[in-house]
Amino acid sequence: MAATILIFLLLIHAVSSADRGVNYRPSHICALKHSSVTFYCNYTYPTGHQIKKVFWTKTPVKDGNKESSEEGEQHKDLSEDPEYSQRLHYLGDKQKNCTIRLSHVTQKDSHMYCFRFITDDDDNDDDDSQEQTSDPGVTLTVTDLQVESPETVTEGHNVSLTCKSSCTLTDRATFIWYRNSQPLTERRDRNNQLLLQSVRREDAGRYSCGVQRHIYISPAVQLNVTYPPKRVSVSISPSGEIVEGDSVTLICSSDSNPPALNFRWFKGRKFVGSRRIYSISNISSDHSGEYKCKSRNKHGEKYSDAVTLNVMYPPKTISVFINGSGEIVEGDSVTLICSSDSNPPAEIIWFQENQISSVGSGQSFSALQSGRFYCEAHNQHGSQRSDAVTVTVKVLYWKISQTAIVVPLCGIVAAVIIGLLTCSCVKRNILQSESLENNYDDISTISDSSLFSYVYENVAVHPYSKTLDPKINIPLCENVIIYENLPIPNRNML
Ligand SMILES: *[C@@H]1O[C@H](CO)[C@@H](O)[C@H](O)[C@H]1NC(C)=O
Ligand SMILES: *[C@@H]1O[C@H](CO)[C@@H](O)[C@H](O)[C@H]1NC(C)=O
Ligand SMILES: *[C@@H]1O[C@H](CO)[C@@H](O)[C@H](O)[C@H]1NC(C)=O
Ligand SMILES: *[C@@H]1O[C@H](CO)[C@@H](O)[C@H](O)[C@H]1NC(C)=O
Ligand SMILES: *[C@@H]1O[C@H](CO)[C@@H](O)[C@H](O)[C@H]1NC(C)=O
Ligand SMILES: *[C@@H]1O[C@H](CO)[C@@H](O)[C@H](O)[C@H]1NC(C)=O
Repeated sequence: MAATILIFLLLIHAVSSADRGVNYRPSHICALKHSSVTFYCNYTYPTGHQIKKVFWTKTPVKDGNKESSEEGEQHKDLSEDPEYSQRLHYLGDKQKNCTIRLSHVTQKDSHMYCFRFITDDDDNDDDDSQEQTSDPGVTLTVTDLQVESPETVTEGHNVSLTCKSSCTLTDRATFIWYRNSQPLTERRDRNNQLLLQSVRREDAGRYSCGVQRHIYISPAVQLNVTYPPKRVSVSISPSGEIVEGDSVTLICSSDSNPPALNFRWFKGRKFVGSRRIYSISNISSDHSGEYKCKSRNKHGEKYSDAVTLNVMYPPKTISVFINGSGEIVEGDSVTLICSSDSNPPAEIIWFQENQISSVGSGQSFSALQSGRFYCEAHNQHGSQRSDAVTVTVKVLYWKISQTAIVVPLCGIVAAVIIGLLTCSCVKRNILQSESLENNYDDISTISDSSLFSYVYENVAVHPYSKTLDPKINIPLCENVIIYENLPIPNRNML
């Protein structure tokens, strides 16, 4: 402030005393790189003199010993300097106005600039020019712009970016911000600051700033937005069907910044691995199940959705079991069940030993006749055969044994009856026997003997017992031969 007043006083002195002087407005200019600056200037000189020459010259900004080295150039006409001649435009006149414009300034142009004029009497008066040199000139500072920003910001936080210049720009400047070279329209700045509130991932990018109506733009600065893992997913390699024995790789992918380095694998709830890639060689059916991974960085962690490993394998542990007893009475059936473990479920075919063609298919099989049966399970990955089981079909004797309790009773009763009716019984037997032969005299002509159950016993119970024919419900306690006709429809009712 004191210096300004001093200069001002000197100025007044110069003008009033010598009646010659130069005014610059403003005396300090801060200009943006690549812009054009106008040095407004007027000058006065004693009346009666003629202006012979006007020119601009530069003096180094007072800065240590630099001044002395450039001393010799102090009075050089800038219009003759190739560095300036193209960029300098004299806008004044030869009377009062010495305004000049310098275009496309760079930091190298940061100097003090002075206007000089030579009047017709200056040739004879060397002291005059000395006096002129002491006039302060106009100081030009050229600045570039730098974005000041933290390198990284965490998602959700606020961040402020500053557009820095080395001096306060003389022209009132409106700053413009760019992200990845695109002007930002949505978020307004405050002076030379850009405030980003509750930063999102999309805010990451290369930021630069500029000033309205100026072509110069600052170098870009990367703003890095960090965030916890998102979109955590599992991929299975190779894709497609997995068969026992394969080598399978599960890869955990996540989007996070910084990239997650901490992974955990779970099968169901069980922890199984801690690398990004979980490899299973020689996979077995035990590896089937739901897997998920958890990705973590310093900002948080996240689970993937579960993926299912479905390991395919050929049938194994095949066996046949009999539901009930392997012994059945003729006409009954026994259910054989084939159990096997496979993925996908196997198709089951039944065979009887020593027979080429199959006897049935499906998980269960009804055996109707004696034999050794086995099942064979197969899917697209292989097949397996079970051991054979034996099914024995017993003829009606089995039924008779059921009446084991009745028989002794009958035996006793029969013995008593036999004892009492010895003679008459013999006669009646002959008669009955004859009558039976009369009723069923065509029995011998029926060729299919399987339609009959032959019961060569002294005592028997009709196999249908109780329900069909109450008459035959009573045990026959006589020495008779009963020919029982078992028509086909009745057999099915068993
Ligand atoms: C010359 O410049 C000074 C300071 O800027 C100003 O006060 C004065 O009026 C100007 N003179 C003329 C003739 O424009
Ligand atoms: C000097 O000339 C410039 C450019 O023509 C003009 O803008 C400025 O107003 C003039 N200054 C004076 C004091 O006449
Ligand atoms: C971000 O700025 C807004 C508005 O100034 C404020 O309400 C919020 O609390 C700030 N958030 C953080 C994380 O500083
Ligand atoms: C962002 O910052 C993180 C942590 O410093 C770093 O790991 C990551 O590589 C950076 N990303 C970019 C795009 O610069
Ligand atoms: C794969 O595993 C099965 C059963 O776990 C084993 O029998 C077989 O030898 C293994 N094969 C290899 C190549 O390790
Ligand atoms: C075995 O037989 C019983 C009675 O007939 C039946 O309820 C059961 O479901 C059968 N078991 C199987 C496994 O088929």
